[in-house]
Amino acid sequence: MARIIPARGAVEEAAERLSRGELVAIPTETVYGLAADATNGEAVARIFEAKNRPRFNPLIAHVADRAMAERIARFDALSSLLADRFWPGPLTLVLPLKAGSRISSLVTAGLDTIAVRMPVGVARDIAARLDRPLAAPSANPSGKLSATTAAAVEAGLGDRISLIVDGGAARIGVESTIVRVADGQLTLLRPGGVPAEDIEAATGKPVRRSETGAAVEAPGMLASHYAPAARLRLEIASVRPGEALLAFGPHRANGVEKAMATRNLSAGGDLREAAANLFAHLHELDASGAATIAVEPVPGDGLGAAINDRLARAAAPREPVVAGNGAS
Ligand code: TXA
Ligand code: MG
Repeated sequence: MARIIPARGAVEEAAERLSRGELVAIPTETVYGLAADATNGEAVARIFEAKNRPRFNPLIAHVADRAMAERIARFDALSSLLADRFWPGPLTLVLPLKAGSRISSLVTAGLDTIAVRMPVGVARDIAARLDRPLAAPSANPSGKLSATTAAAVEAGLGDRISLIVDGGAARIGVESTIVRVADGQLTLLRPGGVPAEDIEAATGKPVRRSETGAAVEAPGMLASHYAPAARLRLEIASVRPGEALLAFGPHRANGVEKAMATRNLSAGGDLREAAANLFAHLHELDASGAATIAVEPVPGDGLGAAINDRLARAAAPREPVVAGNGAS
């Protein structure tokens, strides 16, 4: 059972727990979010564990103010205009990730873009007190409906989190609208609390919509997903010359001395630590210039399922990007 505390007076305790790497369920004007410190990879890994998410979708970073947003994302004139007009509120902007931001690569799923929004109310106050962005997907078990009350959060996740901040029923009750802003173009990745027509009226620009609806179900799952340039060879027993090695646990595969570069997801075999390191380590090994990254076996239980899902996608033959399918 999670403890449920009223939003009034919750800011300090929520921020304190978040700063220790705990998860806290928080109200927003759209739906309740399951929040972690977005700069703490292991805390973000706990989100996927608690939701039982089988995949590492990128998460939205919730910010307290524009200064915090500009520390993690690059704004141009168009995205600045949208933030001026719709923040705080139910609009999420997918923008270029700012170099040197301390956001965990698990939040962006290794992409070079980041989804940012400034929520209304206590969620914003908690981010301000923590002085860091909050990574927060909807506070429901994977595959279930989003929670719009503290009681619904408790029913779905109460046995997996210790604190729920109760802000009453979510005012809007559907998720935020997600819009990608790139090269002066607007693309709707998910319809939500702000109608696309309002965005068009505010900017005088068309909002490209998905034709198939594929991007509506799972933006960020398709063409936008980070894929290393190197090929991946999974469940290896021995390293071949010229390969880079992605290791896991205390015992090494044969032939590690042949590896061009090595990173260990978790020397102690901790899946939470491995999840937190996954994208950063893939990027680093990719940058070593090796044509192939050899990957030691990772167990499939708990967060291992999502880690193996990600590795299998990175290892699969590349799908051509279909023009006009709306996938981002
Ligand atoms: O209203 C909301 O947006 C709620 C509240 C808690 O803020 N949050 C929410 O989060 O709905 P979530 O994780 O359930 O959905 C976030 C969506 C995912 O579908 C993800 O793929 C997409 O945002 N996303 C995040 N970062 C992205 C990126 N860099 N590029 C494309 N899509 C991204
Ligand atoms: Mg959701």
